[in-house]
Amino acid sequence: MHNLREKYGDKALITGASSGIGEQFAWQLAASGFDLLITARQEEQLQQLADELKEKHHIDVEIVACDLSDTKQLDALIEKAKATDFGLVVSNAGFGAKGDFLEHDYVQVENMYQTNSLAPSKLAYHLLPKMVENKRGGFIFTGSVEGEVAFPYSAPYAASKAFVHSLVRSLWLEMKQHGVDVLLLAPGSTDTAAPLKQGMTKDQLIGLQSPAFVAKKALGALGKKMVVTPGFVNYAFISLFKILPRRWSTIAAGLGMKKAIADAKSQNQAK
Ligand SMILES: NC(=O)c1ccc[n+]([C@@H]2O[C@H](COP(=O)([O-])OP(=O)(O)OC[C@H]3O[C@@H](n4cnc5c(N)ncnc54)[C@H](OP(=O)(O)O)[C@@H]3O)[C@@H](O)[C@H]2O)c1
Repeated sequence: MHNLREKYGDKALITGASSGIGEQFAWQLAASGFDLLITARQEEQLQQLADELKEKHHIDVEIVACDLSDTKQLDALIEKAKATDFGLVVSNAGFGAKGDFLEHDYVQVENMYQTNSLAPSKLAYHLLPKMVENKRGGFIFTGSVEGEVAFPYSAPYAASKAFVHSLVRSLWLEMKQHGVDVLLLAPGSTDTAAPLKQGMTKDQLIGLQSPAFVAKKALGALGKKMVVTPGFVNYAFISLFKILPRRWSTIAAGLGMKKAIADAKSQNQAK
């Protein structure tokens, strides 16, 4: 992985670095010698991570506490980031919520669209030009298997990730001619706080994989692939869904999600 630094330079920016997959990107890039700018909302977690990374890997780590659903905070982050030559950017922050579309809190839905879709797009718009100018760079976007097909009972999240998937596939080709590598990371079940925050329970998640494995696969795929879905089970699952007629895949995803929500509810109630 040390050739990442030779290929992209020595500075990386990671959003959603306070936990889960983003934190693992931070550890793996730090181990490769990148100086980092890490961002998320929880400043304390970021500070603790920065201290540990500096101590273990002797790199520079800057933290920026930023709520990506707040456009003013996002703009301030972008202004700051534009002043540095980031050769590698990991747009990873995101969150989801499960349930009937009409039962969501719409303020949360708008925050989800802002965080999961509009913020990555704006980061890309403002941070890719320097990579284009330098004729090198790497940009990883974290989507989800839910961005590949429609997912009833997870509609806003799936839609927010579908936006990213379409954008990133287009950017992959547009950026190629400028020597900039773009990768869509589309993980399936990953052992982080995210599924639990959405009310799921760990034992109902099929193909659960570690966030370290997911980050490693993404860094390994950058510059080689357009899309990566780490793990055989998750890859096989989404590949099967994609070859089904859309109507069937939508029905299957909806039935599966509805059952998963109901099972999680009864498991959580029994606790
Ligand atoms: N775990 C899975 O099974 C799975 C599957 C497919 C895709 N993904 C995607 O993987 C990415 C990382 O999630 P994870 O699984 O690692 O879960 P996680 O541990 O909950 O990490 C989510 C990260 O995003 C940050 N974040 C959330 N909302 C934010 C906001 N409004 N502004 C700024 N930062 C925000 C969180 O930090 P703060 O709370 O400190 O802001 C955290 O660092 C997400 O995009 C998620 O959709 C996860």
